[in-house]
Amino acid sequence: MSGKLATDYPSWAKLQQLYDSEHTKLVLKDLFNQDPERFAKFSRTYDSPNKDVHLLVDFSKNLINDDVFSTLVQLAKEGGVEQARDDMFAGKHINTSEDRAVLHVALRNVGGEFKIDEAGADEVQGVLDHMADFATKVRSGEWKGYTGKAIDTIVNIGIGGSDLGPVMVTEALKPYGKEGLTCHFVSNVDGTHIAEITKACNPETTLFIVASKTFTTQETITNAESAREWFLKSATDKAHIAKHFVALSTNTKAVTEFGIDAGNMFKFWDWVGGRYSLWSAIGLPIMLFIGPENFQELLAGAHEMDKHFRDTKLEDNLPVILALVGLWYNDFYGAQTHALLPYDQYMHKFADYFQQGDMESNGKFVTKDGRRVSYQTGPIIWGQSGTNGQHAFYQLIHQGTKLIPADFLAPVESQNPIRDNLHHKILLSNFFAQPEALAFGKDEETVRKELGADADNEALRKSKVFEGNRPTNSILFQKLTPRTLGSLIVMYEHKIFVQGCIWGINSFDQMGVELGKQLAKSILGQLDSADKVVDHDSSTTGLIKHWQTRAAL
Ligand code: F6P
Repeated sequence: MSGKLATDYPSWAKLQQLYDSEHTKLVLKDLFNQDPERFAKFSRTYDSPNKDVHLLVDFSKNLINDDVFSTLVQLAKEGGVEQARDDMFAGKHINTSEDRAVLHVALRNVGGEFKIDEAGADEVQGVLDHMADFATKVRSGEWKGYTGKAIDTIVNIGIGGSDLGPVMVTEALKPYGKEGLTCHFVSNVDGTHIAEITKACNPETTLFIVASKTFTTQETITNAESAREWFLKSATDKAHIAKHFVALSTNTKAVTEFGIDAGNMFKFWDWVGGRYSLWSAIGLPIMLFIGPENFQELLAGAHEMDKHFRDTKLEDNLPVILALVGLWYNDFYGAQTHALLPYDQYMHKFADYFQQGDMESNGKFVTKDGRRVSYQTGPIIWGQSGTNGQHAFYQLIHQGTKLIPADFLAPVESQNPIRDNLHHKILLSNFFAQPEALAFGKDEETVRKELGADADNEALRKSKVFEGNRPTNSILFQKLTPRTLGSLIVMYEHKIFVQGCIWGINSFDQMGVELGKQLAKSILGQLDSADKVVDHDSSTTGLIKHWQTRAAL
């Protein structure tokens, strides 16, 4: 993370030359015909030490050849990925703008193998124990609400990194969740969100978790105040708050000022970035839902992937490989987006989660030393679960005018092998078919044959051609267990890190969210009166005043 420009590296220039001279020859059909070993060459398997996590990452359906791949690996070397990785694991302050270490790896340091001074292992373990103790009490019914009833509903109030990870993981690990315990997540400041969720809750049996690293986020504090107001309408006595509100935060002062007992606060530290915080106290709703043992499994899977990332040479390193092939399209092919397409219904929030993970990390236009980049940085991340996407936006991926690199992910084994695994076989046949169709397409000659008598209808014929050559990664994992999910999440976390490192940007701050917050704060103070509406352009003034007029009707 030198703050250098990516274009400073000799391998960047070589990649540009390769793109200019080779890209028309990088045709997947030809590349596969020329090399029967291509799948073996451009795929990697990963087995965790106890073989309880198995992954296959097939990146052979990418527009790369040996030269491109080795030059991309060279770029990772010249870009200082290995040094940056070591710096992160050593607790150096690689978040330079905020002068902070970036130590989510310390939160899942199962066995204490990484020696990291700044993140005291005892402190981390202390919070995990606090969480486990609390989760056990709630899950067993020992923790009682104000009328003596057990908790059956959890409402997590948080936004961004204090929401998306717990939402994604509790959805992904539903088969491991405690029956009879319902989890809700309130994030949006739109009153509709909290109003609709509290309609489904009984104050006697509901636990609110106020999750905010800073404990100053407007949406979260407003929602938490509304939840408290709703709760006190029934509970009446403020002393009952202690049984129904806990906080996850770094800010003890603000938590206690809110009225939550410091003993009911689960702590974390400023070296935990919001979008990397599900492994910390922010994971409490996850632990409540799946239990401390399964949470430990999640951490273990994460830790094993950390070790893979730290110890594996770049050309075999899964996060590095995903980062490099992604960068190839982002920076040389001009691809603007990257799709995440899990063929596992439980992973339906995976793309949403990595929208923040990737776009808040790498959506930056200046390097760490303040120079404007002359190349593209983070892609737009989007996607949804297969096969739903096939009936929504795949048309554009197959035949549109844009290049959309995509990752397909699927489990070997379904959690629900109903009807003799029929559903899963159908699902997987689609998972195998789509990357094949995207890569190899269908040429006009084949269409002509298929059309028979209609073959002379040129417009019809052309509309049925699939040009192919659309790149994908296919990622197969054994089963969506807590350990496997931990490994998959970390594989993507480190992919983002590697790309940010090569682009020379700081992947760990998020200055770009501040301006909107500032303006909203000042506008809030102007909404009550037309006279107060000052210091805006005519459009913003017009919009606010239009609202004021209509709202007063
Ligand atoms: O959107 C900006 C952001 O700061 C995210 O980085 C963060 O995850 C989110 O807001 C919530 O912040 P907090 O946990 O401090 O409420």
